[in-house]
Amino acid sequence: KRVAVLMGGLSAERDVSLRTGAAVSKALRSFGYDVVDIDVGKDLAARLVAEKVEVAWIALHGRYGEDGCVQGLLESLFIPYTGSGVLASAMGMEKVYAKQVFTTHGIPTPPYKVFTEATAARAAVDSLPFPFPVVVKPSREGSSVGVHVCKTKEAYLAAVDDASKYAGFLLVEQFIKGREVQGAVLDDEALGVIEVKVAREFYDQEAKYKAGSGTQYLFPAPLPADQYARVNEVCLAVHKALGCKGASRSDVIATESGDVYVLEINTLPGMTETSLLPKIANGRGIDFPTLCERILLGASL
Ligand code: DAL
Ligand code: MG
Repeated sequence: KRVAVLMGGLSAERDVSLRTGAAVSKALRSFGYDVVDIDVGKDLAARLVAEKVEVAWIALHGRYGEDGCVQGLLESLFIPYTGSGVLASAMGMEKVYAKQVFTTHGIPTPPYKVFTEATAARAAVDSLPFPFPVVVKPSREGSSVGVHVCKTKEAYLAAVDDASKYAGFLLVEQFIKGREVQGAVLDDEALGVIEVKVAREFYDQEAKYKAGSGTQYLFPAPLPADQYARVNEVCLAVHKALGCKGASRSDVIATESGDVYVLEINTLPGMTETSLLPKIANGRGIDFPTLCERILLGASL
């Protein structure tokens, strides 16, 4: 079968996606698949037809790729694709709606406040419904783009200015102190939980992708057994609540007192050399090429 690896694209996570795509493409080629790499641009539909693509491995992150847009195009062209469908992708990319789904399903997520305008967010600096520190996020980005942990009002106001450069709502969350852990799901099975220990304030862009940023990865995460099981459980629950398919990875805070809070779900988890889904899968005996092939074999319309 002719496989297209869709990568790059127009989002703020373009560079991460190119790294994911290159790694996936190499892995699939190592199994002898007939692979074409496509850097997604305006003429994607024509290109897919011209290349006689039979199945698409979506290695995009962020807008247009992780949010259901490309999934909708592929549906319309009757080309099976990897991962979640249109609705799950759109809901997963929009953190505010994803949090509403979590809450509907009784899945804990940090308290939050949503603003549609930066002016309203600025005006609320003294009346947020939870104490500082707070986290300001653009609601539809990934890889920590535009995310700021704010300890002071001044930092909050600056964060609002920055986050409002991106599309979507302004999401302000209570900062929950705890360990940053992530759980992966593959084909409706929880694969396990990894802990990310950062030398920085939080798991920001630099800690995610820059070599030498001092980030440590511990798999399996050294949490108390019941808390570990709980993280696995909530990661599977959010995957199912949103109706995800294939692989997903959810970002969770595990507190000292044993609670867990889901921050968000990623329906197209990074597959770069520092990314966590491959590390978790590897810890479970699934090597990188096998992981890429498993995801490919799950492709559907
Ligand atoms: N958004 C990045 C790629 C991730 O979640 O891995
Ligand atoms: Mg994300």
